[in-house]
Parts: sequence; structure tokens; C-alpha cells
Amino acid sequence: MVNELRPLTGADLPALLQLDQQLFLEPWSADAFQRALDTERYLALGVFAGARLVGYLVGSAVADEGELLQIGVTPESRRQGIAAVLLAEFRRWLSQRRVAAVFLEVRASARGAIAFYGQAGFTQIGRRKDYYLSSAGREDALLFSLTL
Ligand SMILES: CC(C)(COP(=O)(O)OP(=O)(O)OC[C@H]1O[C@@H](n2cnc3c(N)ncnc32)[C@H](O)[C@@H]1OP(=O)(O)O)[C@@H](O)C(=O)NCCC(=O)NCCS
Repeated sequence: MVNELRPLTGADLPALLQLDQQLFLEPWSADAFQRALDTERYLALGVFAGARLVGYLVGSAVADEGELLQIGVTPESRRQGIAAVLLAEFRRWLSQRRVAAVFLEVRASARGAIAFYGQAGFTQIGRRKDYYLSSAGREDALLFSLTL
């Protein structure tokens, strides 16, 4: 099945919520996604295999800073370059807005995501102690940045 990359719309909201809830312990609310879909400073992108949403990215740009807010790929579609395509498109969007650097926070336990960010050129710039809820109580957030 050929994958298609395109901006997400309100019609994608049910699939987006379902995938986000499947992937994250603290998923976004429908309102949070709706705001991202409706607001100019956000970018919401999806990768589709036929009609099925298999990956998504939500990011923002405020002044000269970008933020990667959420990225996820269904377990069965991983290691096929889908997140890399989403990130490349986000970087292109940021560059058009003359954004100089992009930041993100990730759970310290998210080894796959940390490996992905590392190979994409991000460097760790900080740590927020006990920032996230976790099944074991709380866990740290790692802060990463990438200069564009
Ligand atoms: C992190 C995530 C989005 C990566 O998606 P993906 O589509 O599988 O990533 P890609 O295929 O584009 O990976 C590109 C490269 O990143 C690195 N990489 C990606 N996932 C990796 C993993 N689990 N372990 C080691 N390296 C990894 C590899 O270098 C990979 O290239 P390769 O497959 O040729 O070796 C996906 O694993 C995911 O959804 N995880 C759960 C949600 C999550 O933690 N999101 C981040 C929260 S901030």
C-alpha cells in the first residue's frame, strides 16, 4: 500500500484521537487536536496507507522557535521511514517561516523515540525531573533541540 503524506483536517480527528490514545499514556484531548488543526501557528500532518492513518506529527512555530509537540507511528508501520518523512516536512515548514531552532520533550523511557531524535540530529539540552505520569509513578522528560 502506497503511503500518502498530507495535512490533517477535522475529518481526520477520530482516527487521530484513536491512534494518539493507542500510543501515549497521556494522550491529547479532542479540543487540543482541534486547536492544532484550526490554528495557523500549528502544523498537523498525517501519513496514510490507503484510508488508514499510520503516522502523524503535530508541531508549532512561534517567532523563531519551533516545537515538535507529538509524533507517532503505528507499531506495525515502524522502521519504514514514516517519522523521518514527517519530520522532514515539518523542517521544511519551519524553514519557510525562518525558524532557527526546534525543541521537544520526550519521556526518558522512550528509547525508540530518543534513538530517532538522535539520528535526526537533535541533541539533549536538559532534563525535567518527574515531568510525566508513568505506570511506575512519574518519570523525567528529556529536552532536545535541533538548530535548523
Ligand atoms: C519514535 C517513532 C515516531 C519513530 O517512527 P518510525 O517511523 O519507526 O521512524 P523511522 O522509520 O522514520 O526511523 C528513522 C531512523 O530513526 C532511528 N530509529 C527509529 N526508531 C528506532 C528504534 N526503535 N530504535 C533505534 N533506532 C530507531 C533509526 O536510525 C531509523 O532508521 P533505520 O530504520 O534505517 O535504522 C515511533 O517509534 C513511535 O511512534 N514511537 C512511539 C511514540 C513516541 O514515543 N513518540 C515520541 C514522543 S515525543
